[in-house]
Amino acid sequence: LALVLIGFMGAGKSSLACLLASARGVAPLDSDALLIERFGHSIAEEFSARGEDSFRAAESEVVCSLLSSAGPRDVVALGGGAVLSPAVRSALLGHLTAFLDVDPAVAWERVAGGGETQEPLGAAVAGEGKEAAGAASSGSDRPLARDRDAFFALHASRAPLYEEIADAVLLWGASDASGYPVFVGSGLLREDALAALWPLDRDRSRSFCVTDETVGPLHADRLGPLAGLIAIPPGETSKTIAVAERVWGELAAAGTTRADHIVALGGGVVGDLAGFCAATYQRGVPVVQIPTSLVAQVDSAFGGKTGVDLPAAKNYVGAFHQPAAVVVDPSVLATLPAAEFAAGWVEVLKTALLAGGGLWEHVAADRPVDERTIVECARSKLSVVAEDERDSGRRQILNLGHTVGHAIETATAYSRYRHGEAVGLGLLAALRLSGLPDLRAQVYDLLLAHDLPVSLGDAAVGVDEIASIVSADKKRVGRFTPFVLLSAPGEPRIGCEVPDAELRAAVAELV
Ligand SMILES: NC(=O)c1ccc[n+]([C@@H]2O[C@H](COP(=O)([O-])OP(=O)(O)OC[C@H]3O[C@@H](n4cnc5c(N)ncnc54)[C@H](O)[C@@H]3O)[C@@H](O)[C@H]2O)c1
Repeated sequence: LALVLIGFMGAGKSSLACLLASARGVAPLDSDALLIERFGHSIAEEFSARGEDSFRAAESEVVCSLLSSAGPRDVVALGGGAVLSPAVRSALLGHLTAFLDVDPAVAWERVAGGGETQEPLGAAVAGEGKEAAGAASSGSDRPLARDRDAFFALHASRAPLYEEIADAVLLWGASDASGYPVFVGSGLLREDALAALWPLDRDRSRSFCVTDETVGPLHADRLGPLAGLIAIPPGETSKTIAVAERVWGELAAAGTTRADHIVALGGGVVGDLAGFCAATYQRGVPVVQIPTSLVAQVDSAFGGKTGVDLPAAKNYVGAFHQPAAVVVDPSVLATLPAAEFAAGWVEVLKTALLAGGGLWEHVAADRPVDERTIVECARSKLSVVAEDERDSGRRQILNLGHTVGHAIETATAYSRYRHGEAVGLGLLAALRLSGLPDLRAQVYDLLLAHDLPVSLGDAAVGVDEIASIVSADKKRVGRFTPFVLLSAPGEPRIGCEVPDAELRAAVAELV
């Protein structure tokens, strides 16, 4: 299978194909470039000389021939309308098709009226427009991007087609250094699909999988060729420097080199720990994140925060290490125990509270978590991280509910509550501190409906203990620990100072 990128004009398919292909050491294949070569002039000129029907016929022929010769490591970018051809759609069945979605307003800005030739995915690929991909595209090469309303209508009419055809949704995790692809699709965890989307050349870089003893036996055999497999005991109590040391030792014993890479297969614990080992082993090797829990699929696998806990506090030792790729297969959630799914749902709830809009409506109405929900959560997190990779500003919003949540985890020795359960309690505290009693009541009911704790019950934790752990939070700078509070769903505020008495009252409400 080749990896074939589809999506609307202006999505950035050519730019992304360039990046992905160069990471694999192959040249990208671009259907528009081939068409321009065949016509000997621009696509716009072809449109005006012979009309759209004639162009589509030529496009279908060129794309079908391209797809019939594309091999397993190839990355192919198709023109936005290529999938209108039934012959192209049937040729795509023999490949892995990834839909690069784009907001129509963003696409319009990029291609509108013939002014813009770039299809930037973010700072990482700025400057790599169609020309870099080999297609001498110009604004006038976008004959369907001349009228804004028609452009938006076309985007709306094509989106369902792309979704139907695609095996995966492709998002881009922009980072300062470069960026990484995120693939979301049910069924991606199979050898041929992974071979098509793998970000590294597996002939030259061997895969060493780090997983846990529960997930490994269930899913590791889907990963294709592994040079080694290290399974740690499941659960938060494995997120320690001692377990990291064991992993480093096993990597060294297996002869892992800097040319190789790690595959983190598991929940957030495996992702954080294996990511940390990857960040530090021989000063850093690439990591491919394959999240298998809901927490990891909607949150922890993205953004490059890795680390381990100390007895004194959670995530106290770690490193920023962006993944080489994230591969999300929601079908693996079928084996996730219900209580773990519920705990993961709290991260969906948190993301929805931060994002507001359609995601909040979906979650507030307690509609089920489907593939689209996972994509929307991933998109939301990626956009926050892209603005602030190193957590010095906007990224701090992601800590909504986590200040008290982490303190509860620490106070209970990481063994009584799942991370998501503790964050659910932390969200209740944060909403009280936000002065939003109605929203708190709504979230309380949602947590109850998901069988999640809404009070500390018989956990032997006191207000003093939580307050003192909060004051030692690693986010503390200067005289207070900053809280993330909400003005409304979609309107978070960072850096809020919370008087001690208010914090104690919010925690007391949980005790
Ligand atoms: N790095 C970040 O940005 C970030 C963000 C949020 C959370 N986190 C971290 O994530 C961790 C929590 O993640 P988690 O809830 O995934 O914990 P986890 O990794 O312990 O997984 C929870 C349990 O589910 C099991 N499991 C996972 N996938 C499964 C599957 N498909 N089938 C059957 N069992 C499966 C695991 O074996 C484990 O027992 C915490 O340590 C938290 O700090 C990190």
